[in-house]
Amino acid sequence: MPENYSISRRRFAQLLGVGTAVVAARPAFGLPTIVAQPAVALPTAPTTIVRLSSNENPYGPSPMALKAMTDAFSLTWRYPDEHSETLIDMLAKLNAVTSDQILLGDGSGEILKVAASAFTGPLNSDAKPVELAKPTRGPALTFTPGRGKMVVADPTFEAILNHARISRAEVVKVPLTKTYAHDLAKMAAEAKEGLIYICNPNNPTASITPKDELREFIIKTPKSTMILVDEAYHHYADSPDYESVIPMFKDHSNLIVARTFSKIYGMAGLRVGYCVAQADTIRRMRPHQTWDSVNIMALAAAIGSLNDPEQVPNGQRWNAQTKQFVLSEVGKLGYQHIPSQANFVMIDVKRPVQPLIGALRERGVQVGRPFPALPTHMRVTIGKQGEMETFLNAFRDVATGSA
Ligand SMILES: Cc1ncc(COP(=O)(O)O)c(C=O)c1O
Repeated sequence: MPENYSISRRRFAQLLGVGTAVVAARPAFGLPTIVAQPAVALPTAPTTIVRLSSNENPYGPSPMALKAMTDAFSLTWRYPDEHSETLIDMLAKLNAVTSDQILLGDGSGEILKVAASAFTGPLNSDAKPVELAKPTRGPALTFTPGRGKMVVADPTFEAILNHARISRAEVVKVPLTKTYAHDLAKMAAEAKEGLIYICNPNNPTASITPKDELREFIIKTPKSTMILVDEAYHHYADSPDYESVIPMFKDHSNLIVARTFSKIYGMAGLRVGYCVAQADTIRRMRPHQTWDSVNIMALAAAIGSLNDPEQVPNGQRWNAQTKQFVLSEVGKLGYQHIPSQANFVMIDVKRPVQPLIGALRERGVQVGRPFPALPTHMRVTIGKQGEMETFLNAFRDVATGSA
């Protein structure tokens, strides 16, 4: 188990050859000389807190991503056109689609925001389409105001709800089923134009919605209602009942599938995500986005990651091993969990979770916040082995009543 796998700050500094490499890499024409300033200390990851609250990948980015960022330093004065195109082409190839069927985002969070603003809004809106200024690249765009409700599961990843509210859309929450799947029949019944958000695997439950049900739901949903399937945790799912719905978008103009580089690719701080959808759907989304919203370092890192054949299988294997260890230890203490298809677990602590979260925090372990729909469940990200041992020691302490 690679406890020391992620590259330390010192090693990273060595990789960058701090100072000299940066100066040496500056383009050799007419730029003002940069006078060295006293170093401003960057925030470091706090060493005293074990952070198991944000479903990050504790092993970090691929060494090839770090190398690609180092190489990109000399290009940071330029807009990221070519890097953007390269990443889009690579993602198109990876997903067997064309490049006009990919939209990059500043994290998949931006894709969620763009989808909410493009496809939700007041149902009585009669605003007319507006012609927009032609962007620096690509075809002219028309902005058509979003219309219709946002329908989501409860609980689910909530960022998109706020975006829909800002669009003044009605937001409808539909409880998960007893098996923690999306209740697709009820969600379909609630929808009226607008957007249905399906998070699969779902955050915070780490549960999946079975592939047959999801496939049938996509086939049956009227084309006037958009469906956004968020596959942020796709690479961690290994159940035979799970499958990505990316291949379905070709036959379904209302389907958008979001992916991220924040999870298995370990790049949460860099902010890159994307979605796959039909070209016309992408055209409707694009006006809601900042031009060039993904920066050149993040693009370089994403390109580097995709070139590393080890990044995904390593992340999958290490997560699976540590998750199995944690769940077996939690089981020995008499606690159940929701079957997990992600890099985090939902443990039923059999009492209100809030005091336990506080007690763990006092012991230097930060777990997920409480989720009102599941008030006795604790969401714990799977960190490295040593971090999980720290969690388990603290959990034993607080859960057996000595807290
Ligand atoms: C289900 C889900 N979707 C999207 C995101 C946002 O990811 P990104 O970092 O790509 O914006 C998260 C982050 O935790 C998530 O859990």
